[in-house]
Amino acid sequence: MKTFINVEDLGNLNQALAEAQEIKQDRFKYQHLGRNKTLLMIFFNNSLRTRLSTQKAAMNLGMNVIVLDVNAGAWKLETERGVIMNGDKSEHLLEAIPVMGCYCDIIGVRSFANLKDRDYDYAEMVLNQFIKYSGKPVFAMETATVHPLQAFADLITIEEYKKVERPKVVLTWAPHCRALPQAVPNSFAQWMTAAPDVDLVITHPRGYELDPKFTQGARIEYDQRKAFEGADFVYAKNWSNPGITTPADYGKITCEDMTWTVDTEHMSWTNDGKFMHCLPVRRGLIVTDDVIESPNSIVIPEAANREISCSVVLKRMLEAL
Ligand code: CP
Repeated sequence: MKTFINVEDLGNLNQALAEAQEIKQDRFKYQHLGRNKTLLMIFFNNSLRTRLSTQKAAMNLGMNVIVLDVNAGAWKLETERGVIMNGDKSEHLLEAIPVMGCYCDIIGVRSFANLKDRDYDYAEMVLNQFIKYSGKPVFAMETATVHPLQAFADLITIEEYKKVERPKVVLTWAPHCRALPQAVPNSFAQWMTAAPDVDLVITHPRGYELDPKFTQGARIEYDQRKAFEGADFVYAKNWSNPGITTPADYGKITCEDMTWTVDTEHMSWTNDGKFMHCLPVRRGLIVTDDVIESPNSIVIPEAANREISCSVVLKRMLEAL
């Protein structure tokens, strides 16, 4: 595997899930694969789970790891071509990327959407420059529009906790005080619609429609209560306006309706549903304390599975070197 961005990069999902369970049984089984190989993790944005789980997965596979926080200690990077670099950015990404590629075998990139220009974000400019100019396999550690390591971990978690063959999984929008990217819900929708045994329903206020290229095959239900009825899993997430129905609203907060916050009444509409969230989560906005602290909350095992999803991805990349 040379890139890991979309669900198709992983091939057969049942096989990938079986591989995840194999690695979970013995996390060090493939330790020989990473010997004398180096992972470079590049962060343009903050992280807790991705930083730790990716590093842990790489160490399980015997790799050396270098972590670069671009905005803390490195030269400030220019990302646009054709600019006169007379500001505070000392180095251009087009030199920095091939230099980074000299020091490693695999590169992970975290680079969020700027939420100002939809075309720029959805063209994945930063990620694609790494793919084009680094000369190394590249995987997304949450980019402008996707977060596949999270979605794969979510799928592993649903497989582990489901009580019926084809669970009803509800992706629900919830309110937030800051404008957030659409990467997590995009990938979640993409992976759940690709999974053979998931019945995905997406619920959100009107105007918050995600890009159809990620949601094709999912049911959209604008009535949150109807969506929750009979749900086996509730996956809460905020995202800013994707600008599909009203392009001028891209990246803005156009709904602050607190009735969308997931509380115990919402969960009572479900089929004893499990509560999921990718974390970090803002309590009182996305979810109430009692729901996230309830026995039905599986946010911690979900986060733990980030190590497993990343182990499968790095294993595949190491095997293809
Ligand atoms: N879920 C997730 O990617 O968490 P971090 O932003 O902390 O890495």
